[in-house]
Amino acid sequence: MKISIIGAGNVGALSAMRVAQCGFGDILLVDIAKGIAQGKALDLEDARAILKVNYNIKGTDDINSIKDSQIVVITAGLARRPGMAREELLSKNAQILKEVCLKIKELSPQAVVIVVTNPLDLMTCLASKVTGFPKKRVLGMGISLDSARFANLIAQELNLEPSDIDAVVIGAHGEGMLPLVKHTKVKGVSLEEYLSKEKVDDLIRKTVGRGAEIVSFLGSGSAFFAPSAAVAEMVKVIAKDEKKILGACAYLNGEYGIKDICIGVPVRLGKSGIEKIIELDLSEGEQKELLNSAASIRKLTEQFSYV
Ligand code: LAC
Repeated sequence: MKISIIGAGNVGALSAMRVAQCGFGDILLVDIAKGIAQGKALDLEDARAILKVNYNIKGTDDINSIKDSQIVVITAGLARRPGMAREELLSKNAQILKEVCLKIKELSPQAVVIVVTNPLDLMTCLASKVTGFPKKRVLGMGISLDSARFANLIAQELNLEPSDIDAVVIGAHGEGMLPLVKHTKVKGVSLEEYLSKEKVDDLIRKTVGRGAEIVSFLGSGSAFFAPSAAVAEMVKVIAKDEKKILGACAYLNGEYGIKDICIGVPVRLGKSGIEKIIELDLSEGEQKELLNSAASIRKLTEQFSYV
């Protein structure tokens, strides 16, 4: 299986490393900046003898090399600086995404596309429109990262292991994200049973702000270890046709009462991409918040001329 990762910055290079180490595909790392992808690919290749894993990885600055990929991950684009909202990256990254997506459409028309570039929900909508691929073959990585952050914070609070927590976050990958308390389970029991409302609200606030918190510490660039882990998990589930349920940014066509935008929801993933959108039973308040989250995405998509 050929897996192309476009953008060899921190998220792209680490995703390449993690996906390569899983050993289920030939990896192509692409970056328009001359030498970056080639250098990082050679470095990753050298690690094989130490890790004793026989993966294939190549680096290139020529996007035409993505031809006939089965999975394409897009990480190309600018990252946030301290104080910036993800949405402020919209016009610059849309330009980059558009060019990349036209190439994917031309060269890898059968690929499943995973978008990682921010603002995530808008870039996933853009990739879906520009490629014109079936909606199930274009998805975004955002809320699986947010769920991992929520799970981590809950685990710390309760002094448990993150694997004891099954956290569910839906909505936009941004201020409008919606950690779902009733659906989040601690050892199979709803989080509501474990913590007071005040404590849960505090953990939700920290989860929503986690990306910005990391950006403010780093000073330049955004998070990459957890985002690349989330990318590798998505690639694995698709490559191995695991049919696992993960949070992903997906095109909705009436599910949750939302139409014609991409937003984070639980989905079942397999080799053809999104096999099913899972509709959770939401409270009235949660449904309202989700619709607000969708409305803010829609507003930005309408302001923006895509093509
Ligand atoms: C974050 C970026 C990747 O949430 O959106 O850290």
